[in-house]
Amino acid sequence: MRIREITLQPFRNFSELRLQFDADRILIGGANGRGKSNILEAISYLSIGKSVRGAQDVQAVPHNGQYFDIRAVCGDGPHHHQLRLYFGNQEGKRIFCDGTPLPRIADILGIFKTVHFSPEDVALVMRFPAQRRRLLDILISQTSAPYLHDLQQYQRVLAQRNQLLKMSRGTLRESEAQALDAWDRQLARFGARIRFRRLEVLAGMQAAMNRYYALLSGHREKAGLCYEYSASMNNDPAPAEEQLCADLEQELRGRRGSELHLGHTRCGSHRDQLVFTLDGHPADAFASEGQMKTLLISWKLTETQVLAGETGQNPVLLLDDVFSELDSQRSAALMELIGTCEQVVLTSPKRPDGPLGAGFSEIWLDG
Ligand SMILES: Nc1ncnc2c1ncn2[C@@H]1O[C@H](COP(=O)(O)OP(=O)(O)OP(=O)(O)O)[C@@H](O)[C@H]1O
Ligand SMILES: [Mg+2]
Repeated sequence: MRIREITLQPFRNFSELRLQFDADRILIGGANGRGKSNILEAISYLSIGKSVRGAQDVQAVPHNGQYFDIRAVCGDGPHHHQLRLYFGNQEGKRIFCDGTPLPRIADILGIFKTVHFSPEDVALVMRFPAQRRRLLDILISQTSAPYLHDLQQYQRVLAQRNQLLKMSRGTLRESEAQALDAWDRQLARFGARIRFRRLEVLAGMQAAMNRYYALLSGHREKAGLCYEYSASMNNDPAPAEEQLCADLEQELRGRRGSELHLGHTRCGSHRDQLVFTLDGHPADAFASEGQMKTLLISWKLTETQVLAGETGQNPVLLLDDVFSELDSQRSAALMELIGTCEQVVLTSPKRPDGPLGAGFSEIWLDG
């Protein structure tokens, strides 16, 4: 998968920018605040339909502007698509593929695949469980439309269930108890599918994650991934989906009394934890900054493998300011590892110390 050109007219600080990407190794350079991260954000907008930074669409509209408009030519081998994402303060978001409007925003997922790394994510991902779930959900949604559908259904059922719990104020009438039973069954069904898929994908990521971390760190520590959820006490590393469903339904029943008092749902896939470990210890509590960064880079490199394996298409790797704070050994190891990617777009506020390697094309925003 490759991006050949992008036009921002406008997007954030760019009123008009057109870039051609003739090479498969691209360095976008420029002083702080010139818009390097904004360009990578715009590229990934075309991949996931929303801001990879978690920003609201309206925040990407230029100050005092009314809309943003991102157009690009992206392709896989000889097949090219013109992708366009338009957001207007009045009109909302519209997506077009080869000039045809897509019925739903989610339909853009899977057309143009990217993996995005930014140093801002390191602290977020390591500190907040919700961000780690998001990481996993964005990855799996790019390979599976049914997964995204399950996530949306789960959120819908969860919201309804929480509303019922809140309104009940601790006690339920007969009809409300029946309604809650129905929500429990649905939540368990969607929650089990989500857990099953997450466990499956993570199991397939372990070995690659481990290998990338070892190569980047010079085999200093051993990285691992684990997925914790309340019913995982039974210690089955690969439970069947039916089992997960039965366990979750049972847990929802068991907690009903306390959830009625609290007024919200305390168990299910929205509370599960993806944990990064180093030598078996949770990284969020023990890893150094450089180790956390190395963990997230290893995860992102592993993501490229998952996407390629699941879809047969290599994603474009977008690495925002990746070399800052990495020692020279890790930077050199990373340069070697990205050599196998189909297309990589790097940003840096200054020219990297070592040679960039063959085939790199440089774009400097300073003009
Ligand atoms: N909606 C917006 N409208 C106008 N300008 C914006 C908007 N959002 C962000 N900016 C501007 O974009 C610039 C930041 O761009 P960006 O984060 O891409 O910089 P950068 O080149 O990655 O810098 P650094 O090297 O510091 O990471 C800032 O000047 C910021 O004020
Ligand atoms: Mg930046």
